[in-house]
Amino acid sequence: MRNIEQILKNMSIKEKANALTQVNANVVCASSKAEITGLDANLTLDTHDLASIGSILNVDNVRESNKIQRKHLKEDPNKIPLLFMLDVVHGYETIYPIPLGMGASFDKELCYECAKMAAKEARISGIHVTFAPMVDVARDARWGRVMESFGEDPFLISELAKETVKGFQEDIENTGIASCPKHFAAYGAVEAGRDYNTVDMSLYRLRNVYLKPFKACVDAGTKTMMSAFVSMNGTPAVGSSLFKKILRDEWNFDGLLITDYSAVKEQIIHGTAKNDKECAFLSFNASNDIEMMSSTYSNYLNELVDEKRIKEEDINKSVLRLLKLKQDLNVFEKPYFNESIKIDYEKNRELVREAATKACVLLKNDNILPLADDNKKVLVIGPLAEKGMLGNWHSNGNRLKSISLLDGLKNNTKFIVSYKKGYDISVNSKDYSMINEAVSEANKFDYVILTLGEDELMSGESFSRADLNLSKAQIKLIEELHNTGVKIISIIYSGRPLVLSDIVDYSDAIVEVWMPGTEGGNAIADLLVGKTNFSAKLPISFPRTTGQCPIYYSHLNTGKPKPYEEYNFGYKTMYIDCSNEPLYPFGYGLSYSMFRISSPVINKTVITGNEKLVVEVDVYNISNRKGTEIVQLYIHDLVSSYARPVKELIGFKNIEIDRNSKTTARFEIDRNSLGFYDENGKYMVEDGTFELFVGNSSTTLNSILFEYKNE
Ligand code: NOJ
Repeated sequence: MRNIEQILKNMSIKEKANALTQVNANVVCASSKAEITGLDANLTLDTHDLASIGSILNVDNVRESNKIQRKHLKEDPNKIPLLFMLDVVHGYETIYPIPLGMGASFDKELCYECAKMAAKEARISGIHVTFAPMVDVARDARWGRVMESFGEDPFLISELAKETVKGFQEDIENTGIASCPKHFAAYGAVEAGRDYNTVDMSLYRLRNVYLKPFKACVDAGTKTMMSAFVSMNGTPAVGSSLFKKILRDEWNFDGLLITDYSAVKEQIIHGTAKNDKECAFLSFNASNDIEMMSSTYSNYLNELVDEKRIKEEDINKSVLRLLKLKQDLNVFEKPYFNESIKIDYEKNRELVREAATKACVLLKNDNILPLADDNKKVLVIGPLAEKGMLGNWHSNGNRLKSISLLDGLKNNTKFIVSYKKGYDISVNSKDYSMINEAVSEANKFDYVILTLGEDELMSGESFSRADLNLSKAQIKLIEELHNTGVKIISIIYSGRPLVLSDIVDYSDAIVEVWMPGTEGGNAIADLLVGKTNFSAKLPISFPRTTGQCPIYYSHLNTGKPKPYEEYNFGYKTMYIDCSNEPLYPFGYGLSYSMFRISSPVINKTVITGNEKLVVEVDVYNISNRKGTEIVQLYIHDLVSSYARPVKELIGFKNIEIDRNSKTTARFEIDRNSLGFYDENGKYMVEDGTFELFVGNSSTTLNSILFEYKNE
């Protein structure tokens, strides 16, 4: 085993700075087809610098990783193997639903298993580190990157992210990969949902909402983390001493902090650094260890040490973090990947099919689903039905055949399926020319399965939208179909909540399927005919209109929260043209089973200090179908020195219940679920009354009061 302290001793400052530099595969390997995912910075690295580089991003196959490694180990004076990093976000080749869909599963174990599978596929394909999970809180559906998040709620994100981190990093020496939660921090709050936009927020909100999932990932043992592109309160995250203080001093994170792509140099564009040297100074001081795709560390760390503006011992700390990660991944012993190991696609397909099933949310069902599986005539409409919808950030997913809805219906049902395209999917398309053909014979069919929504590359990085409505062509199509009297099942593919207000009345059933991944078509077909059951719940609020964004259940109360008719002077806290409530709230989702949840029962009415409170409800399945209910526990602090959210999720349980049976759901909570952080990060739990809600959506009013006392 190589001694990393010894390796460090033999390195010059310049070599250390190079080790802290990360470049795209095509920079070191001209033949690489690696996709460049960000702005290509003007790298000023000569062949000598490149020889001692520390890590590579965007290699997309095992032979290329080995080829680059071979060349590197010949040239690197210190013979330190490279690390290979990639965005393995929701699978490597076998793709599971986008993270927002995984959020809808509310299923921790599923997140763990999927991440473990993705890690195994990636590791045998030449990858050591994934830039995932993305744990930004997503409350504005205009932002394209909501698809990469587990949703709007810090607790839900934290719970699923912890399992994802553990899944990726399981057996990290052999089959696992290091996780890199991103983007630290506050990227989810970009103004107006425009990508990379400014963030301005109170430290109270930052600490109680946006930071929580990152802390959860640190607690789960993530090996690395990525800083964000955005500026918050006037300081780019990549140069933020506040974020450094939180991450390194308050949380004692000693893993590797990696910048986002060219983010170090973007400080010049933000206007907070005048040149490359100041960029290096600010980012290094903010404790970013690895500079991704720009070369200011390589070019200036040396000079900054000479000028005594930064200390060599701090550079050593960063290099040691990197070498330690290489050691954890066992790359000193095994720098090359075994090219003959094969992926077990069959097993992996099974898992992603289960994931897709658990991700689809039944939003409306007017007694039409499940459809009896017989030789009905079904007309499938919409171009999204023709494709395996993997979604953005699908890594090498295209290498495997993915199942479209049309494939799925043909594989899994007895339906006699016909297909019409019906509309053009591009944003703002005004092409109505295909509508007539799709509608003219619709009434000859028993059902129309109408796919609506957005295409794979209409969400994700750089895919923000100002208008969340379905396209005019899609709305006209459903209107005309409705006029024929045919029954319509709307299947919504999207990487974000879209505004569905215009189609609710025209649809007999609505299913949100997100971007369901490799096995999506099979999973949806099974659900439609009731071979499987729905259990998913919305991890994010669906607005009635784009103007409601950002919208989330866990808001603070205003001083005038009621409808304005209830105030003498007509105060209008509501919009005058729209309700304040979302169309579909966080936590909502139907099932083929019917559940009832009893009033909560608690073991004590007062808890003190570290005492635990036990909350129980009986959950009844009052239907003839076995099903899973996601029972959700929310809290509200009635009086506090800071205004607290009207409700906050603090627990959930996925409970499978046989038909006509009952199960008891039991939650245990203590002071760790009751408090909040002040601006300085002090955790406070104040004496007083709390209301606990237990239900199957964030709108539940099923509650009980209890009291907390510190002493
Ligand atoms: C930019 C994105 O913001 C980040 O999420 C991603 O990991 C990097 N590019 C690398 O692809």
